Amino acid sequence: MRIAVLASGFGSNLQALIDQLHAPPEVPIEIGLVLSDRPKAYALERARKAGIPTAIVRFRDYSDRRAFDAAIAEQIERHGCELIVLAGFMRILGPEFVRRYAGRVLNIHPSLLPAFPGTHGIRDALEYGVKVTGVTVHFVEEEVDAGPVIAQVPVFVDPEDTEETLAEKIHAQEHRIYPQVVLAVAEGRVRVEGRRVFVEPEEIR
Ligand code: GAR
Repeated sequence: MRIAVLASGFGSNLQALIDQLHAPPEVPIEIGLVLSDRPKAYALERARKAGIPTAIVRFRDYSDRRAFDAAIAEQIERHGCELIVLAGFMRILGPEFVRRYAGRVLNIHPSLLPAFPGTHGIRDALEYGVKVTGVTVHFVEEEVDAGPVIAQVPVFVDPEDTEETLAEKIHAQEHRIYPQVVLAVAEGRVRVEGRRVFVEPEEIR
């Protein structure tokens, strides 16, 4: 299955997907496109190094969200991608896009949703003072950070943690579980029943 990875920044999750899924011949996945809304995103550099086609779709080049979303969809279609993996993509995709690709858009978020949605999940959890936070991978639906949860992993907050050390622990978990989830979805091992998601042969955690 050909997948598109959408990223706005550093691209460490993209790198984990490249390292764990893109190369091995036994994995039925090819990253067919890395798309970014930011021309300087390091994620694009990672894609180029791996020989993966890239595209830049800048929000300000379009009159509104619908036109921006349509340009992204056009790239996805052009590259024949069937699954869309958001990896630090910091733009909200509109309802039409989400409906068109229903059940085929995944996102990773650095907290245990529904706690601490938004763009600063790690900092917000630390500032709130929770003792456990973590990582969530979910299907994208119209409401932001609210689709059915596919996998969650807890990360303990230690007394000496700073935003940096907590981020390190969270990213390590992200890089471990996101490729596993993408593979499970691509292999048809993920079933959705209402809000609940079931992964065969066993949950990813
Ligand atoms: C990741 O920690 C991801 O969970 C987060 O952005 C980071 C991207 O890092 N996403 C969100 O906060 C979405 N709301 P990366 O570019 O190194 O993969």
